[in-house]
Amino acid sequence: MPAGVQTEVKAYQLYVNGEWVESASGKTFPVYDPATEEIIAQVPDANADDVNRAVGAARAAFDQGPWSCTTAQERGRVLLRLAEKIRANAAMLAELEARNCGKPIVEAEFDIADVATCFEYYGGLATKILGYVNPVPDNALSLSLKEPVGVAGQIIPWNYPLLMAAWKLAPALAAGCTCILKPAEQTPLTALEMANWLSDVGIPPGVVNIITGFGESCGAPLVKHPDVNKIAFTGSATVGKIIVKQAADTVKRVTLELGGKSPNIFFADADFESAIDGALFGVFINQGEVCSAGSRILVQKPIYKKFIDAMAEKARKIKLGPPLDRETKMGPLVSKEQYERVREYQDLGKKEAKLAFGGGRAEAFEKGFYVEPTIFYDVDNSARIAREEIFGPVAAVIPFDDEKDAVRIANDSPYGLAAAVWTRDIFKAFRAVKQLRAGIVWVNHMQPTYVEAPWGGYKQSGFGRELGPWGIEEYLETKQVHINLNEAPIGWY
Ligand code: NAI
Ligand code: MG
Repeated sequence: MPAGVQTEVKAYQLYVNGEWVESASGKTFPVYDPATEEIIAQVPDANADDVNRAVGAARAAFDQGPWSCTTAQERGRVLLRLAEKIRANAAMLAELEARNCGKPIVEAEFDIADVATCFEYYGGLATKILGYVNPVPDNALSLSLKEPVGVAGQIIPWNYPLLMAAWKLAPALAAGCTCILKPAEQTPLTALEMANWLSDVGIPPGVVNIITGFGESCGAPLVKHPDVNKIAFTGSATVGKIIVKQAADTVKRVTLELGGKSPNIFFADADFESAIDGALFGVFINQGEVCSAGSRILVQKPIYKKFIDAMAEKARKIKLGPPLDRETKMGPLVSKEQYERVREYQDLGKKEAKLAFGGGRAEAFEKGFYVEPTIFYDVDNSARIAREEIFGPVAAVIPFDDEKDAVRIANDSPYGLAAAVWTRDIFKAFRAVKQLRAGIVWVNHMQPTYVEAPWGGYKQSGFGRELGPWGIEEYLETKQVHINLNEAPIGWY
């Protein structure tokens, strides 16, 4: 076992109103290491009572507390100091993230660096929230002011735990909101570790509350709570639809990022070696547990056969292994539940299409939720493995004839998060870019994501945008202010 790994089971508490507290019920639940299937921590099982307490703290911090009076400069500095803490503790956070999610340590290190960058970006943006002077046709001054939306409930998934926490907390805090963050039940540990520094960096009590619990008993009461003004959610489309309905009674602002079935399109003129790399990277990075995974691989017919052979050949060399091994390129899936879900899709794929590589459990490992990188081909776009998000290392390769055919197949999906197109022909590339119904389109690459650029989906991949100035906009209200400059009665009566 690599040095520095602790094997004791650590007990965590909830972070509410600047204090560490037990859950109201006193119940806890275990958190696992998916590589060993061992329990590594116990966390509180928060319920509606804990949600009430956290919302109360966030509401008070927003309405009366110091956060409502902080300047944008102060909020910005707080975020920059938090980024410094993250960088200073990056090795610990990356190791904990890798152990808890099963992702390769090298990937976890990139994630934690991105977490710090996200807090830095929004630290800088806090002082750039600008209003407008509206050119109204009267002797008046008309202004649009930007104000924080209020108390934000933030529900996040398990594939990029601390990064998803940062994508939600950083813009909210920069905007002046207060937050209740509910990490995924599988992976709450890095967010709880980060809470240790919140007070030190100057975040007042109640401004950030972190509660651990399950979807129905902890997430749902947060979504329904009348004192919460906004819900930001990343996760499954199934739960996203429930959230929209549950948020309706209190007319909450909602933003949703619900994953997809993103097409990665390869024209015959693409650079072949880069294409094979890009196809594998697009779908197998982070064990395929990526909302923008290029899980539908569309290949033009002249290179189709050669492409599948080359993909299978290279997939064979992908090094599966323990997350903390620096050579590992693919670790176990996050949980038993996700493992079983992916195994079912592997079995379904064998009925719906042909298998080029993988297709089962990775038998080299006695324990852990390891599955083989899996490539199906001759997949019809109407097959379930081409329509449903699998969220594991399972690729569906689909042949196409020409540009029109590629765009038609690509857009024939209920989802629209991302797409990529590979070609050396810029005319073809740009025509495709314009026609693809997706929130993110890459050309000759797939997956690079930047805090400076917008992130979010079309169609059933959700609505709202995270990151960049778009991300902070989702945490702001717009107030119209009209200042009459006529020192006289209206003169109507
Ligand atoms: P999920 O959507 O159930 O969980 C995501 C978050 O929502 C977690 O924090 C969970 O506790 C919370 N949640 C669940 N039910 C809720 C409810 N009724 N009200 C409020 N919050 C609720 O995702 P799950 O079950 O872990 O994974 C299932 C599938 O979802 C995956 O196979 C994948 O296809 C998709 N998924 C997509 C993600 C993305 O990044 N878009 C991330 C995680 C999962
Ligand atoms: Mg679920």
